[in-house]
Amino acid sequence: MKIDDVKKIGVLGCGLMGNGIVQVCATFGYKVTGRDVNDDVLKKAMENIVDGKYGLNRGLERGKVTKEQYDFAVRTIKLVTSMEELTEDADVIIEATPEILTLKMNLLKELDKLCPEKTILASNTSGFSITVLGGVTNRPDRVVGMHWFNPAPVMRLIEVIKSESTSEETVNCIKDLSIKLGKTPIVVKDSVRAYGFVANRAYGALRRECQSIVDEGIATMEQVDTALKLGYGFPLGPFELTGLIGRLGRSKLNTG
Ligand SMILES: NC(=O)c1ccc[n+]([C@@H]2O[C@H](COP(=O)([O-])OP(=O)(O)OC[C@H]3O[C@@H](n4cnc5c(N)ncnc54)[C@H](O)[C@@H]3O)[C@@H](O)[C@H]2O)c1
Repeated sequence: MKIDDVKKIGVLGCGLMGNGIVQVCATFGYKVTGRDVNDDVLKKAMENIVDGKYGLNRGLERGKVTKEQYDFAVRTIKLVTSMEELTEDADVIIEATPEILTLKMNLLKELDKLCPEKTILASNTSGFSITVLGGVTNRPDRVVGMHWFNPAPVMRLIEVIKSESTSEETVNCIKDLSIKLGKTPIVVKDSVRAYGFVANRAYGALRRECQSIVDEGIATMEQVDTALKLGYGFPLGPFELTGLIGRLGRSKLNTG
């Protein structure tokens, strides 16, 4: 699959990350079908896409989204409960279901059965090995990590994770897609021994050390934040960032 062949994107799971991903893909002109387990979740997802804090209305007000993009997205986004509708003629499926390994493995197997031969399966997992996820399918060369950051319409980074089996063509397609969606991709190797890829592992290590400094009574959280902002030019201190992620990510420090 080459980037110019990508026309229809499916998003499996329309929760916090999935509905933002649906919104971004549709804003940039792709036909998007999102799938979740019931109509209540889909209703909330659509409300978030249109009226949420980072939704289309806000984007329009702030000049981040044009009227054309807005109209196209609202007109074309399809949210469904059927796996068949999700997978029908999909060029890329982005999997954004809960971070439970067995669930993702089962869903990838199902996607592999239902999707056309051409379809790339991209997982938004925060840290499971893409080699393991691809290994349950008959198309490991077309399974890749596409790790977005929260909130998806705002954060500019996408980690593109290449497993031992992912083909160059697949990696290039997802890298090019990320650029078309206004993001900056970094292509990295699968992390087989440790959970997490680049940003989460680096941030997690920093955050743990900062917590030790506080626990040992050496400095307060505010002082640690001040030290890293003024001493190293961090735009936000690690504890301030945790507060932000906590609010946005509904609790976990390192959800993704
Ligand atoms: N929250 C973050 O900050 C963040 C950031 C980057 C990556 N991630 C990763 O993104 C993925 C999703 O995380 P989230 O925070 O959006 O979770 P979430 O719980 O908000 O959303 C998951 C959605 O998947 C749906 N779902 C469950 N089973 C399904 C199925 N069989 N078919 C379709 N939908 C199904 C749920 O109903 C829910 O709406 C996880 O792998 C997570 O690690 C999360």
